Amino acid sequence: MTALKLLFIFPLIIIKINANFVITRYDDECVLDPALVTEIASYENVTKHIMDQIRDYYGKTMYQEYTRFIDKFGARPSGTWILEKSIDHMIDLTKQHGLYDVTTEELEVPYWLRLMESAIMLQPRVKKIAILGFGSSVSTPSGGIHAEVIVVRSFAELEKLDRTKVQGKIVVFNEPYVSYGETVIYRTQGASKAARKGAVATLVRSITPFSIYAPHTGAQYYESNVTKIPTAAITLEDADLLQRLQEEGEKIVLEIQMAYMEDTKKSRNTLVDLKGKESPEKLVIVSGHIDSWDVGEGAMDDGGGMMISWLVPVVLNSLNLKPRRTVRAILWTAEEPGLIGAQAYLKQHKDELDKINFIMESDEGTFQPLGLDVAGSNKTRCIVQEVLKQFAPINKMENSGAPGSDIVLFIKQNVPGASLLNRNERYYWFHHSEGDTMNVQNMTNVIECAAFWAAFSYVIADLSVDLPRN
Ligand SMILES: *[C@@H]1O[C@H](CO)[C@@H](O)[C@H](O)[C@H]1NC(C)=O
Ligand SMILES: *[C@@H]1O[C@H](CO)[C@@H](O)[C@H](O)[C@H]1NC(C)=O
Ligand SMILES: *[C@@H]1O[C@H](CO)[C@@H](O)[C@H](O)[C@H]1NC(C)=O
Ligand SMILES: *[C@@H]1O[C@H](CO)[C@@H](O)[C@H](O)[C@H]1NC(C)=O
Ligand SMILES: [Zn+2]
Repeated sequence: MTALKLLFIFPLIIIKINANFVITRYDDECVLDPALVTEIASYENVTKHIMDQIRDYYGKTMYQEYTRFIDKFGARPSGTWILEKSIDHMIDLTKQHGLYDVTTEELEVPYWLRLMESAIMLQPRVKKIAILGFGSSVSTPSGGIHAEVIVVRSFAELEKLDRTKVQGKIVVFNEPYVSYGETVIYRTQGASKAARKGAVATLVRSITPFSIYAPHTGAQYYESNVTKIPTAAITLEDADLLQRLQEEGEKIVLEIQMAYMEDTKKSRNTLVDLKGKESPEKLVIVSGHIDSWDVGEGAMDDGGGMMISWLVPVVLNSLNLKPRRTVRAILWTAEEPGLIGAQAYLKQHKDELDKINFIMESDEGTFQPLGLDVAGSNKTRCIVQEVLKQFAPINKMENSGAPGSDIVLFIKQNVPGASLLNRNERYYWFHHSEGDTMNVQNMTNVIECAAFWAAFSYVIADLSVDLPRN
């Protein structure tokens, strides 16, 4: 019973007794069994060894392989042949690096192909408007849509409008960017909300705080009982222009043409295992998604996260470091259309969730690493915090409640997990746009992320105790 190894005291008491019986202040209300603290500290040499090996040698090879992967395949949208080719490539690469325990699990994924898009403002003056359709958007009717525009700043503003003011128009959402999590609802729900008011299409201010005239795509979802209307991103520049023109009393008329093809295809989640030496049935999962949007190169989202996760079992195997539990890297497929690969994995492995000791994902950038966003019981967070100490200054711990993207599905099932915190304040500048290329990446930072990711997951996979759940 692992809980016996842990001792809890109330938040008021913020002291802790170390293994050597020194009483120290502690920045959290948790206290660990001194024996566990000592055990965690004993990993310091091996974590340093793993990190040094990655910094000096494996990381550079990984970065070359990563660059080669992005250059060779570029964008890897769900349902495409190129995504499947890129998966085959990663399987081959795993074997080339001496790890043969690689399997795939097949599933059905959406295929949405962008065929043609154009928009032009006809009134009050002629101007080309850059648009980028949102995943699963329907096409415009043949001949396109020629309609007046109404700009709103929020759903509340839309709701207040009389239906006659919206009917037959193109609704432009010019919502202010608060944070990705808060603002993204304008992309995901905007079309459904506008369609209920009788709009014929929606154009949404791209979900980013910064722009050099680039639209950003992403997933959107039609509610089941609404008319499906075409929906696309516009740039911050054009969203603000349209807003000003409306405030200046101009009548705005746009013509838009959008054409897509939709289908369902087969794809695969890829599982790379380094089998545990004591409890191979227990898992520490490290992950990233291999698919991307069709614009840019999917270098940042999520080429970097996929690559550093892939490296974990590969490098531990090369270093001949077999932890107690199995380390499984998962390269999720079809994350972008709505966590399709992760949903399939969850369904297929529903009865084995108690075997997942910890699940990790890097899908918010591989810039300078800072620490982890951790979800789990207080006891689990307590252990993670103790492990993080030896990674200082990469020892920040946050608690957003929903770390990662794919792994959120598992965290909702009470599986403890974490995502990589990094200096990603520019992440959304490039996210889901043509700007997501290798130029966004910095080799030193990616290697540092890889070093931390591998060494941290090794400790968790090897500790004598499982991470306790609530
Ligand atoms: C770590 O390595 C140093 C030097 O190599 C050694 O002196 C020390 O005892 C080691 N510590 C542990 C906990 O193994
Ligand atoms: C459409 O369905 C949603 C739930 O999916 C419901 O909240 C809404 O009231 C429905 N709207 C109409 C017009 O039926
Ligand atoms: C976990 O810790 C938080 C404070 O960090 C506290 O509010 C909460 O009650 C604790 N939960 C449990 C189950 O002990
Ligand atoms: C990459 O990051 C390192 C470490 O933060 C920094 O020293 C270096 O200047 C960066 N390189 C580029 C090309 O920005
Ligand atoms: Zn992503």
